[in-house]
Amino acid sequence: MQDEQTAVAPEAEPRVAAFPTGFLWGVATSAYQIEGAADADGRGQSIWDTFAHTPGRVVAGDTGDVAADHYHRYPEDVALMSELGLGAYRFSVSWPRIQADGSGPANARGLDFYQRLVDSLLERGIEPAVTLYHWDLPQALEDKGGWLNRDTAYRFAEYAGIMREALGDRVRLWTTLNEPWCAAFLGYGEGKHAPGVQDPPASLRAAHHLLLAHGLAVPALRAAAPGPVEIGTTLNFYPVSSASDAPADLDAAHRIDILQNRLFLDPVMQGGYPADIRAHLERVCGTEHILDGDEALIGAPIDFLGVNYYTSYHVAGGGEPAEGPGSCWPGAEDVRFLSCGRPLTDIGWEIDAQGLRTMLERINSDYPGIKIMITENGAAYDDPIAPDGKVHDEDRIAYVDAHLRATHEAIANGVDVRGYFLWSLLDNFEWAEGYAKRFGIVHVDFDSQLRTPKDSAFWYGGVALRNGLSD
Ligand code: NOJ
Repeated sequence: MQDEQTAVAPEAEPRVAAFPTGFLWGVATSAYQIEGAADADGRGQSIWDTFAHTPGRVVAGDTGDVAADHYHRYPEDVALMSELGLGAYRFSVSWPRIQADGSGPANARGLDFYQRLVDSLLERGIEPAVTLYHWDLPQALEDKGGWLNRDTAYRFAEYAGIMREALGDRVRLWTTLNEPWCAAFLGYGEGKHAPGVQDPPASLRAAHHLLLAHGLAVPALRAAAPGPVEIGTTLNFYPVSSASDAPADLDAAHRIDILQNRLFLDPVMQGGYPADIRAHLERVCGTEHILDGDEALIGAPIDFLGVNYYTSYHVAGGGEPAEGPGSCWPGAEDVRFLSCGRPLTDIGWEIDAQGLRTMLERINSDYPGIKIMITENGAAYDDPIAPDGKVHDEDRIAYVDAHLRATHEAIANGVDVRGYFLWSLLDNFEWAEGYAKRFGIVHVDFDSQLRTPKDSAFWYGGVALRNGLSD
């Protein structure tokens, strides 16, 4: 054995976990988290402007007013991606830049920004992947009820059509929503995210209207302009394990799996809420808001599923429902979330790379052959600039490496994963956590706006170049 290894090692290429030909290696961002330029060129207010400017909502009173100033610095950021050798860039469009009040004619200056961004990506051979909704709802629509108002779904489809007209000749990859779970349950249930509503049962209505918005946007995206498109939606998945085989624990895991994963995935893929989900809705908020025909619309065929993955859940039932403000688990307020004792990232999430493989394989077994893009995966670490002027973020490299290995295993096991978008290109505004949690592979000094690629950026560029991992 020893002899065989010695015989081949010196001449051999380093072995790699090779990914499929054409695999997309990208990074992801979102508009409110990086763009800044909150008042530029006719942009309207979003719910995140209002929320972040409300004292006590965001750590340290941080706002996205300036963020990483990407609106003005996008040429530098695109050049950076190109130098790193990345093949794709997932970004979101700020709806209030396009329609300041969320309806009516498009703001040409807002469209122009995204056209320039897309053109500069294409010039450098970077594939754009557009997300239409990454949580920055126009405030004017919130004033009419936001996602609790069914009309918002129709406004969203109108906006989707505008974007498709503007970019459809140049953009192939489209994602309707990013993590509707967060928009619904953090935004309208727990109130930790904009608009800060604390009404858990109502958040299930918001979830339905977000699904409807997705379902209405799919045909709007397919119809509006020439050019091939691939349309998907991005959901945040967590494998859920139960603390024991006791009925209360199994039931807790079942309810969290419904609320976190299946409430969104199943209607999109099946064109209907399965019976157990409907029963949960009946119990918690009723189903009057689900009108005839909605489920068929929500099931409009998609071309790929966007998977965001950060961690997993381990749960037990039978706890005391927490007192106080809203919950993001309507009908599962009694569930306790347990630690598995794994190491944590700096945002306090357990690192469970195998959970990604579990989730990918499960999605593929529930919906065989589905095309998957990993639209987000990454880690927050507090990365100071070292005395040598660099950022040595070995922890982030280890996190991404482990999750890519898990992805590679899932692919070897038959899951059709087409790409991976690391969250995130830049350190950015981490929602209610403000700027304190850094997810970027590029460090941003928010005073000077200086960008410093971290070690992980160069490492990831190497992965993209090799289309795989070194042994
Ligand atoms: C998912 C969200 O889409 C993104 O906006 C956020 O920054 C990351 N998770 C990290 O929390």
